[in-house]
Amino acid sequence: MEYKLAPSILAADVACLGEQIEELDEAGADYVHIDVMDGVFVPNLSFGIPVVAGLRPHSDLFFDVHLMLVNPMEYIRDFANAGADGITVHVEACGDKLYDTVIKILGYGVKPAVAIRPDTPIDPVLPVLDKISMVLVMTVYPGYGGQKIITDTFSKIKKLRSLIEEKELSVDIEVDGGITMENIREVRDAGANVFVAGTKVFNGNITANIDVFRKMLK
Ligand code: DX5
Ligand code: ZN
Repeated sequence: MEYKLAPSILAADVACLGEQIEELDEAGADYVHIDVMDGVFVPNLSFGIPVVAGLRPHSDLFFDVHLMLVNPMEYIRDFANAGADGITVHVEACGDKLYDTVIKILGYGVKPAVAIRPDTPIDPVLPVLDKISMVLVMTVYPGYGGQKIITDTFSKIKKLRSLIEEKELSVDIEVDGGITMENIREVRDAGANVFVAGTKVFNGNITANIDVFRKMLK
């Protein structure tokens, strides 16, 4: 299994985002996780389309754009054109448009992913499982960085991993929220292979933190 580290720039120093992304690149991060919040789907605001476009020239890393907004379908084109490599939409925000939203993402040549909140079962993801590149199992309630991991979500990760193996699909499982150097092995052992970390990457020395995360996955 290939493990990927996806630092979340929600915890970055926004005054020098471009340089921080360059540091992630040099430190060997795999993805840049970009949290987009609309103040409606989640009670917070963060980055939007111009931030994705503005960061694009700073790195060739995979831009993993996590859309925490209502009506994600309406913004797919703009995020794709801004330079997203992967777009994650929440099942709770898509309702009966989930399939169409995934197809739309694919139409732009972008890798689609589907996210579930800690209180959402895996069932709504299953009809699109063979169309998507990744499932994002939220390990905290979305909206804020620096929260504590909810370990009840691990059973969903396990179930998804065995379903993916049973169907012989190559779908990644990403975890997001409360990931630390201490718990990353446990989340990996549950079946996750893409790890988002915000505060634990950006607090202190970015390169040293990424090195520790890597060592934990060896
Ligand atoms: C939460 C975001 C996360 C967040 C993770 O809504 O989706 O990506 O930045 O931050 P930490 O690692 O600090 O929990
Ligand atoms: Zn996120």
